[in-house]
Amino acid sequence: MFKNNFDKNLKICSIKRSFGYGFYFRNYIFEGVNLKTKSLLDLGGGNGIASFFAAHSDNSCRCTIVDPFEDGSNTLMITQYEKLSKVYGNAVKLHKGYVESLPIDEKFDIILMHNSINHIGEEIIADIVSSQKYWKEFSARLEPIIMRAKKGATIIVADCSNKNFWNDLGIKNPLAPTIEWNLHQPPRVWQKMLENFRCKHLRTNWTSRREFLFLGKFLLANKFLSYFTDSHFVSTYIKK
Ligand SMILES: C[S@@+](CC[C@H](N)C(=O)[O-])C[C@H]1O[C@@H](n2cnc3c(N)ncnc32)[C@H](O)[C@@H]1O
Repeated sequence: MFKNNFDKNLKICSIKRSFGYGFYFRNYIFEGVNLKTKSLLDLGGGNGIASFFAAHSDNSCRCTIVDPFEDGSNTLMITQYEKLSKVYGNAVKLHKGYVESLPIDEKFDIILMHNSINHIGEEIIADIVSSQKYWKEFSARLEPIIMRAKKGATIIVADCSNKNFWNDLGIKNPLAPTIEWNLHQPPRVWQKMLENFRCKHLRTNWTSRREFLFLGKFLLANKFLSYFTDSHFVSTYIKK
């Protein structure tokens, strides 16, 4: 087991605003997900923070980050991954590239897309609902990712919904000024796309700021209040 708690390890690795991440991953992203002896694909995992949490909470969980370091990435991510690897040893592998470049028969028990699903098609995402052509194009990019799921695998999709009070009014969200709303879609759009790949929707939950811990989860983490903040959701599916 690891000496420090997760947030402290993040701090040691110079990850800013580290407080609350352990709570967030445990109580929002991996809530109800069994990590024991599971293989996890962290698609677009960046510095691997979600994978390192999984390894921290159960060191029998084997994680692979797959990331070409493209749209939505930054230069710090690899440095942070290397620092975290010093703390967690080789619990989390980094595969720099697209999912298609993984060994052909490699499949996973858990696929996580944490704030990354939209980045696989940034240039078309805004039009996937209105254009069949772009819907098909986006689906074609998602398919090789979902095909990496074993039968019965858990698939987790977390992102911001573009159905947000400030976006609907067409003004900058003072609570989340950097979100580009046109690069996001609501959970029901992802549900429709994933159901075409035989993924059964289990639940969609809404998150609150991680620093608010349990108070945030019980008082603020719901669809209504989220609409006025950052509309961040977590949907969980099972691959049939
Ligand atoms: C906003 S970051 C999220 C990083 C991490 N999941 C997190 O939540 O901290 C989006 C990530 O998606 C990655 N990405 C972009 N296109 C991708 C693709 N086609 N396949 C996999 N990852 C991709 C980017 O390189 C970037 O690291």
